[in-house]
Amino acid sequence: LKVTMTDVEGVTQTFDDVEEGISLMELAKQHGVAGIMGDCGGGCACATCHVYVDPSWWEKVGDPDEIEFAMLDMVADVMKDNSRLGCQIKMSRELDGLEVTVAPASS
Ligand code: FES
Repeated sequence: LKVTMTDVEGVTQTFDDVEEGISLMELAKQHGVAGIMGDCGGGCACATCHVYVDPSWWEKVGDPDEIEFAMLDMVADVMKDNSRLGCQIKMSRELDGLEVTVAPASS
C-alpha cells in the first residue's frame, strides 16, 4: 500500500510497500517523519501523532470517534476539520494512496 506524508518541516515522502494494519503513527515512527512522536504508543492518549488528512481522502478515512475527538480537543489550537490521530488510522486496501500532512505541535 502507498502513503504520502508531509512532515512538519514541509518535506514530503512517499512510502510504498506499506503493510496492511499498520497505523500512520507507526509508519511515521519507522521512517523518522518529523513531528510525529507517538508518546503514548498508540493509545489515543497523547495527540502527538496528529495529522491532517487530505480532504479528498476524508470520506474514506472517516470521522474520529468520541474518545479520539476528545483527545483532539486537547490540541484545539491546531485542530482542523480534517484532523485525525495517526495512531487511530490503520492502513487498509481502501486507503491505498492516502495522503496526510503532519500537524504542528500544540502550543
Ligand atoms: Fe498517542 Fe496517537 S500515539 S494519541
